[in-house]
Amino acid sequence: MESLKIISCICVSLLLNFAASFANIQPKYLRTEYKLNPYVEESKPRLSWELEGKGFNQSQLAYQVMVASSEMLLKKNQADLWDSKKVSSNQTNQIEYAGKLLKPGQRVYWKVRSWDEKDKVGKWSDVQYWELAKPNPDHWKAKWIGVDLNHLAPKAEYHLPPSPYLRKEVILNKKIKSARLYISSLGLHNFYINGEKIGRDYFASGWTDYHKRVYYNVYDVSNQLKNGENAFGAILSNGWYAGYLGYALLVGSPQVNQFYGKFPLLKAEIDVTYEDGSQEQIVTDSSWKYSTGAIMESDFLEGEKHDARKEPQGWNRVGFDESSWTTIQEFPDQEGQALEIYPSNPVRVLQELSAKSIKKIDGGKYIVDFGQNFAGNIRLKINGAKGDSLVFRYGEMLFPDGKLMTDNLRKARATDTYILNGSKNEEWSPSFTFHGFQFVEVTGLKEEPSLDFLTGLVMSSDLDQVGSFESDNKMLNQLYSNILWTQKANYLDIPTDCPQRDERLGWTGDAQVYMRSAIFNADVAAFHKKWIKDLNDSQWPNGAYPIYAPMPVNAEGVAAIRASDSFSPGWSEAGIICTYEYFKAYNDLRIVRESLPFMNKFMAFLKSRTKGHVLQEGSFEDVNPKGGFGDWLSVGEKTSPDLLATTYYFYCNKLMAEMCRAIGDLQVANDYEKESFAVKMGFKQHYMDDQGKLKTNAAFYGKGEGYVEGQNGFSGHTQTAYANAIYSGILDDEDEAIAGKYLRELLESNGNKLSTGFLGFKPLLPALTASGSADKAYMLIQSTEYPSLGYEVVNGATSIWERWDSYTKDKGFVHNAAMNSFSHYAFGSVNEWMFEYMLGIRLKENGFQEIYIQPEIGDFGINNVAGSYRSIAGNIKSAWSKSEKEVIQEIQIPVNVIAYCSINTDDLTAVKINGEPIDRNNLVRSLKKLDGKILVELGSGKYTIRTDL
Ligand code: BGC
Repeated sequence: MESLKIISCICVSLLLNFAASFANIQPKYLRTEYKLNPYVEESKPRLSWELEGKGFNQSQLAYQVMVASSEMLLKKNQADLWDSKKVSSNQTNQIEYAGKLLKPGQRVYWKVRSWDEKDKVGKWSDVQYWELAKPNPDHWKAKWIGVDLNHLAPKAEYHLPPSPYLRKEVILNKKIKSARLYISSLGLHNFYINGEKIGRDYFASGWTDYHKRVYYNVYDVSNQLKNGENAFGAILSNGWYAGYLGYALLVGSPQVNQFYGKFPLLKAEIDVTYEDGSQEQIVTDSSWKYSTGAIMESDFLEGEKHDARKEPQGWNRVGFDESSWTTIQEFPDQEGQALEIYPSNPVRVLQELSAKSIKKIDGGKYIVDFGQNFAGNIRLKINGAKGDSLVFRYGEMLFPDGKLMTDNLRKARATDTYILNGSKNEEWSPSFTFHGFQFVEVTGLKEEPSLDFLTGLVMSSDLDQVGSFESDNKMLNQLYSNILWTQKANYLDIPTDCPQRDERLGWTGDAQVYMRSAIFNADVAAFHKKWIKDLNDSQWPNGAYPIYAPMPVNAEGVAAIRASDSFSPGWSEAGIICTYEYFKAYNDLRIVRESLPFMNKFMAFLKSRTKGHVLQEGSFEDVNPKGGFGDWLSVGEKTSPDLLATTYYFYCNKLMAEMCRAIGDLQVANDYEKESFAVKMGFKQHYMDDQGKLKTNAAFYGKGEGYVEGQNGFSGHTQTAYANAIYSGILDDEDEAIAGKYLRELLESNGNKLSTGFLGFKPLLPALTASGSADKAYMLIQSTEYPSLGYEVVNGATSIWERWDSYTKDKGFVHNAAMNSFSHYAFGSVNEWMFEYMLGIRLKENGFQEIYIQPEIGDFGINNVAGSYRSIAGNIKSAWSKSEKEVIQEIQIPVNVIAYCSINTDDLTAVKINGEPIDRNNLVRSLKKLDGKILVELGSGKYTIRTDL
């Protein structure tokens, strides 16, 4: 199909001469298991680095890693644990430690140097470290401790017992060299040493399937301990373990809370090393005492009540009179419950927001506006009388009369109460809850507060932002901001659908459509290392991945939040798609190997549903809703869920083949490939007419009873169907071209408006672009008419909404009673297109070692775009601007990365790279013409490409 014409190829020797004058390369940003200086359990943790250099076309020919038991030894190049010696490889990540076996608690130091493309050795990197945690149950001496305080819960609408306070004092007689706290809870904990809260983390130990796995964290507490008497304290809360979860209350489930256990438990030990080399351990056991304190109730969905008058003064410090406290109980380890180090980044307060306004409303209440919808908490600063009580309710929107809108929270009470102790400048912030909100309604204030009496605490898993995006379109910049905020609000220990209402579940469909978008915005490697495990842990016995993970199940093995929650096409495939996206972005084979048995089982499950290699109409009639969720929240026309399921089945076979091949499982790879061919054929036969038009046997669905909006009938000829068919690659070239035409036609006949839901929107813009309708993709991204993301922006959104019309200035809220979140990242999946086609940054080889920088530049209404993505191979930048005279592209390619860039002309004389003509340019590795464009291969460096128009 293409007329491929090689114009010139610059010889390598020329390149080498050119590079000779430049400085060498040096490794930077050394990480172990995707983290800086972490505690890990892996005996062979994987190391990575980025390369820094100046100039052009630099790469790594070889590397050497040294690992030593002390920094001193390493400085002297005495690698007593591992010296990789010079390894000929251009790899800068996934380098497995292959040295001596480490002991629990052993901290090791490492550095690396690289040889450049001329085989010239560079400088050593700075020294970093990792520390082995406790990879084996035998390393633990602590016992689970806790107490059932359920009988103290007031009889009220919600069952909310108080938090137990735990304490113990210990005398440490020798001079302390170092100390570590290893801590886990079933539920949530705050831990204190001598009155000081340890760590900045919230909601440890995270949400897992606690029957299978519970996490612990490690903290260096060397400075918190002292010679002599020391006090240890903890406060526990129910959290995900024993608190309310999801919509169980709303749907009237027999069980609404205590899904994993009835009350929280704590397991902690402090390993102390003295200066003389001896060691001592302080562990949780029945020598600890408990009482209650200020936290009267705490729950993610319902909120927190804190009576500051009840705080036992000095309870977590030495010398407290604990004579009225009671001995705590020990609990045995649960069989099959692995205790592992928390793989992700902890939830933290990442940012503080000051209030934009405070307004008085009826009833002496005040509404505080933070100007941004986010997830987190407030910090209160107040002077008042002992016993004054303040009640805080949280909402994302206001009614036109200025009152707080909380209808969309459904059964989530989302209310905090604080009772003052009357001390000067009292400060308080909840410990064991969070809310999704922009507005806070405060009741109980005796006088008008100052603007700074509340601060907004933005909470999220602590992930580095790795992407940036801006353009000359203000609406679009706001949209990008909305995407980032919504990701932050929902990447909170697990990827949730929304942070506010009685749901906050790890919905798999949302996660899979958004996964690549998430990768472009934040470093989600550690975060998804955890959640992919959660997904595997929650696989159903029949092999299906669930519709959300973690998935609490009852003793009968049935979903406990709502019995009918099982699996759904487009959702369950997250098990394959998220793993695949992870493997590609981070070049991670270990995740593929570990997930393979689960993925194979899932693929076998899907296959068992096929007839003639196709998921035909009715393949998923046994799930609720029938056929699954389909193209959830689409507008108007409905796409056959089974047709969609088939495109997903094909796509998953394709991804499985690639993953299996990557890990060397060639036989299995071939099987998946064969199946994918068979699905392709079957799809054409079953779901396509002889004009290349997609169809479904609509009659099969009858009146559509039991299907999502089944009364509308089902079609195969929809935007969603074509977008998915094109994106998945299920069509051959000819059919794909026809599908592209139909897609364009459907869009035009719909007034140039989208009709897609969760499954249709993500592939819509990429499919339009791939099939020659980039103009339409640009039109959709700039649209501000319903339904579009721009419509949300012009209606005041600061985050991505669940529905295309969650709120409108003229109609207000039309969906509140059912479900109407203002912080739902699913439609933010357009971010993938913004990075891949507007900035043009696309992955070619795993780990972004080879990339495309091929932005879609044209007369599309946008003339300036700039952004970046800090990949595991380094920071990639792409910017372009277009005027009537010329296009200027600014590109930055990291050391050791090759980029294939496209230039919008086939006239070589019109193009200059860094001021030199493109065809006589030392920087160019090769170039060719393709489909009216020039494709140029560039190595590392900063480039300005000017094209005369
Ligand atoms: C959630 C979604 C989810 C859906 C399943 C909703 O209640 O909020 O985001 O994917 O259910 O269709």
